[in-house]
Amino acid sequence: MLIDKGAVKGDTGRAPAHFYESARAGMRDLLTRGPVPHDSRDGVLLPGYIGWSAREGSGVFDPVRESRRSFDFYRLHEDLSVDLDDLERALATGRFQYVVVIRYFGRLNTDMRKVRELTDAVGAVLVEDLAHGFFSSMRTPAASAGHVAVYSLHKQFAMSDGGMVVYRDAALLCDQRSTRPDLAAEVLSYDWTQISDLRRRNFELIRAELIKRSHDGVTLMWPELEAGEVPQTLPVLLDSADRDLVYEDMNAAGFGMVTLYHTLIAEARGKDATIERIARTIINFPVHQDVDPRRIPALIAAFEAAVERRSGGKR
Ligand SMILES: Cc1ncc(COP(=O)(O)O)c(C=O)c1O
Repeated sequence: MLIDKGAVKGDTGRAPAHFYESARAGMRDLLTRGPVPHDSRDGVLLPGYIGWSAREGSGVFDPVRESRRSFDFYRLHEDLSVDLDDLERALATGRFQYVVVIRYFGRLNTDMRKVRELTDAVGAVLVEDLAHGFFSSMRTPAASAGHVAVYSLHKQFAMSDGGMVVYRDAALLCDQRSTRPDLAAEVLSYDWTQISDLRRRNFELIRAELIKRSHDGVTLMWPELEAGEVPQTLPVLLDSADRDLVYEDMNAAGFGMVTLYHTLIAEARGKDATIERIARTIINFPVHQDVDPRRIPALIAAFEAAVERRSGGKR
């Protein structure tokens, strides 16, 4: 046939997806059952902002530690985008098989094509951590350029667990195995556009309220939502109030704020004053699809009161 009646090749546009109970389980599968490392080049290069909690451990770092590979960190800018110069410097050591770029909060503020040029130049595999960015990546596929994309499904959908690893470069598949193929049906049972729109709407509503009231000591980390970005949370920095106490007050008042990441992993501490400050002062508003917009005024009022109460003369 010159032109077949239907598609026949099977590999056009194909990016095999593997499903797990969590993103970290998928990352562990890649690091331990994926391509065998070269002797002096087994390393994983990671961004300098990685957290830990007693309850959850470190979703990013635990699989790296468990793989017993060497690791190091590259620097990030204040908006948590990749410092490309520092990434290039680190890659020049020739120690890394994998480079991880995290799309913090689902924000697409790093030019992934530039990162890919740098990783290709040294033959490293680019892993795009989209744990917070499932919807950003589905809405804006052109922003992704990794060989592999890692997703945390339970952070984006109302699911109790779930992770997905998509191999855009199928040559990286060796002995990796899906452990939760049932989750594919779950993910396909949702309207991704509707959820994306709700998340963007909630972000815009909270952002507008925060800008309107514009407090000293409350800085929007993500001032503008670009077209195609779908937020996981809305992060702000609290420079005057005690962040931990504001967090406690808000949750006690019934508003599910989080702090990503309140505590850096020990390995990433003491390297960058800006990153330390972010970890100390960040607090994240919920913008997920189940936020009732009628409750946003009360959320903002409670936040203002908590910031006021917990500023302790610092403002
Ligand atoms: C950026 C990032 N990547 C990966 C993970 C791991 O996600 P999961 O809880 O699905 O293992 C987390 C959360 O722990 C995360 O914040």
